[in-house]
Amino acid sequence: MEHKSTMRKIGAGIIALLIVTGSFATPPENLKNSAMEKFDIHVFPALPYAYDALEPYIDARTMEIHYDKHHRAYFNNFIAAIKDTPYDSKTILQIFASVSEAGDAIRNNGGGFYNHVFFWNNLSPKSGKPSAELTEAINKAFGSFDKFREAFSNSAKTRFGSGWAWLYLTSDKKLAVGSTPNQDNPLMDVSTIKGIPLLALDVWEHAYYLKYQNRRPEYVDAFWNVVNWDEVNRRYAEAIK
Ligand SMILES: [Fe+2]
Repeated sequence: MEHKSTMRKIGAGIIALLIVTGSFATPPENLKNSAMEKFDIHVFPALPYAYDALEPYIDARTMEIHYDKHHRAYFNNFIAAIKDTPYDSKTILQIFASVSEAGDAIRNNGGGFYNHVFFWNNLSPKSGKPSAELTEAINKAFGSFDKFREAFSNSAKTRFGSGWAWLYLTSDKKLAVGSTPNQDNPLMDVSTIKGIPLLALDVWEHAYYLKYQNRRPEYVDAFWNVVNWDEVNRRYAEAIK
């Protein structure tokens, strides 16, 4: 009898501990090498270029509103949502790995905060080109660069409503393209596509409406002129380790 009682006490202790610490899923092992592990959830980073740097493909006014109003609001709302919760001391990867339990405020604003930082960094006025390693992987997965570009563009153009298009590395180290709704991303446990993101394109109307109005396909085609391939190459090299 005494043994049973002791076991009950230990069981209750474990449950209490889980409640106090929160139950966070561990991010996939292959994300450990990623630079995303260093993402600081408490810092709103500077835009890595001037508002007009991506003209004429993405106009300065759109960049200013997108960064300084939309992006900043996601960051502020995320910080407010995690304040005084266990999420405040977690990494972005830990938060996304259990985001289904975090509630809509953290899911939407955490996604909105992170996705935009990721997006700004995969844009540049100096576009460059895919590395030999990435080109080989693209050819293997899609047949050719043109077929990859078409598949990615189709994901962006056909995402219904607001969302994002992604190139990502799956857990079996294969390249894939797909899209997510709203501010979801492939790092989230709720996402139907899962992996390490390599390239993102924001297809919310706020990303293109001032210049392109309802013509999302034109915006998607223009995007290819300002892809920061050096950054995508770096992300791929990190993710494939
Ligand atoms: Fe956006």
